[in-house]
Amino acid sequence: MRIYQEKDYNAMSRRAASIIAAQVVSKPDCVLGLATGSSPVGTYQQLIKWYEQGDLSFREVRSVNLDEYYGLAPDHDQSYRYFMQANLFDHVDIRPENTNVPDGLAKDPAAEGARYEKLVEGLGYADLQLLGMGRNGHIGFNEPCGEFPVATHLVDLAESTIEANARFFASADDVPRQALSMGIGTIMRARKILVVVSGADKAEAVAKAVFGPVTPEVPASILQLHPDVTLVADEAAMSKAAEVGKA
Ligand code: GLP
Repeated sequence: MRIYQEKDYNAMSRRAASIIAAQVVSKPDCVLGLATGSSPVGTYQQLIKWYEQGDLSFREVRSVNLDEYYGLAPDHDQSYRYFMQANLFDHVDIRPENTNVPDGLAKDPAAEGARYEKLVEGLGYADLQLLGMGRNGHIGFNEPCGEFPVATHLVDLAESTIEANARFFASADDVPRQALSMGIGTIMRARKILVVVSGADKAEAVAKAVFGPVTPEVPASILQLHPDVTLVADEAAMSKAAEVGKA
């Protein structure tokens, strides 16, 4: 695993954006696996800036998002489809038909999981998969559990995730209890993985993911087994990993 420790959120975002830009420049029709949450927002802002300056184009890029809340319509302002439009897609030249997010309104979530998995497989999986990390070490919406889920599936969200994400909703009661998420197997098939993490509240998860045992109780720990992972973290997020790393 390659680790970049950056001073703060902005530096983390610029570094992550440069890695994505390198991918897009070297393979203009690449498949980007994209993520939501507050961690990648600055990365997307930097990419938009480079697009506006004429330095980067997403014209041929295909994208697959990690996950979607189950039960939210695409135009719900907390859905991940809405997030992607607002934070990236509406501001760059990616073709709408080349962007993919699981359907949060699918009547049959198992069938939707299977459809989405096939779609990602049909695209050859991601050339580069961007990930944030939950405070409990989740990636996508793969919560700590007894075994690593393989393919795209319906997830029951952990209580801690509902609490963490309540800040975006009117109250915790409004946070959906379930989500459709790529599985760990889907994520691990990406050729490159880029993880962005910032803030002291992630420090424990980062330390466990990078230096702890590989266990489905810390889903991000599986990344230790992937041959091409880059972690870009700010100093606060690295504080505990740095201690363990020295020991
Ligand atoms: C959500 C998303 C994850 C994201 C995580 C962390 O639950 N499903 O993909 O990485 O939360 O979010 P944040 O970056 O806002 O801390």
